[in-house]
Amino acid sequence: MEPQMLGKNFAVEIVDVDLASLDENGLAELRDTWMRNKVAVLRDQMIDDDTLVEFTRRLGPLFVHVRDQYHAESHPEIMCVSNLEQDGRKLGSLGNGDLRWHTDQSYTPRPVFGTLLYGVEIPEDGGATWFCDLAAAYASMPATLRAEVDGETASYSGLKPESTKKAPLRPDQVARIPDQRHPLVRTHPYLGHKSLYISPNHITQIGGKSLEETEQMLDRLVAWAEQPDFTYRHEWQTNDIVLWDNASVMHRRDGFPSEQRRFLKRTGFHFPEELGVPF
Ligand SMILES: [Fe+2]
Repeated sequence: MEPQMLGKNFAVEIVDVDLASLDENGLAELRDTWMRNKVAVLRDQMIDDDTLVEFTRRLGPLFVHVRDQYHAESHPEIMCVSNLEQDGRKLGSLGNGDLRWHTDQSYTPRPVFGTLLYGVEIPEDGGATWFCDLAAAYASMPATLRAEVDGETASYSGLKPESTKKAPLRPDQVARIPDQRHPLVRTHPYLGHKSLYISPNHITQIGGKSLEETEQMLDRLVAWAEQPDFTYRHEWQTNDIVLWDNASVMHRRDGFPSEQRRFLKRTGFHFPEELGVPF
């Protein structure tokens, strides 16, 4: 395993790993490399759904997405992310538009720890995924801004218009994701570092602020966090698997031309029960 840095201070590329035959030592090394670097890009993966789910399961308790209409037929733990349609049915969520900064499932009581995204079909133009190192952004945050987030909490919703318009929810799915309150700063249970924890695509209220004041504060936090030193833009290659730590980074996506094909498979895993909450 020979990781190469992709971002300035985080995100690594790993080119020579076979997920189907990884032994326990190899798994521990990969997990350690990923966690220290927050984002890991595994190149040239040609794996079937069983292998994808089994590898994810070895990293932690499997996550199942509430939007079950986009689950793969083979496994409910795989969610399809795509703009493709077949017989009038969308094969995946999110379409072709851009997607605002977020951390995955921040609107649930136990947000997913790690997300894997497997690039099966990649468009020629656009569709890059951006990552933002929120631990580094917090570590170097000006004292005045840090004072605004330390000890503060926010409400997270899966129903903000920008997320529901890309992937609608049925009433029974809405009922399963009541809004959650989480701290704006969290401590990583394995690494010990503190990190800003924000998800502009999901936060509806910071402290007791109005929606307008909340958006203004999110804009200020994002302006600090998305500086080049803290961000990495991932230009997808076919058969990439990107693995990221939702307790340390947020991510967003660029749009891409609607006539170009994009199909990715997503899995995720939780912290073990005793480490999941509180943050
Ligand atoms: Fe996401």
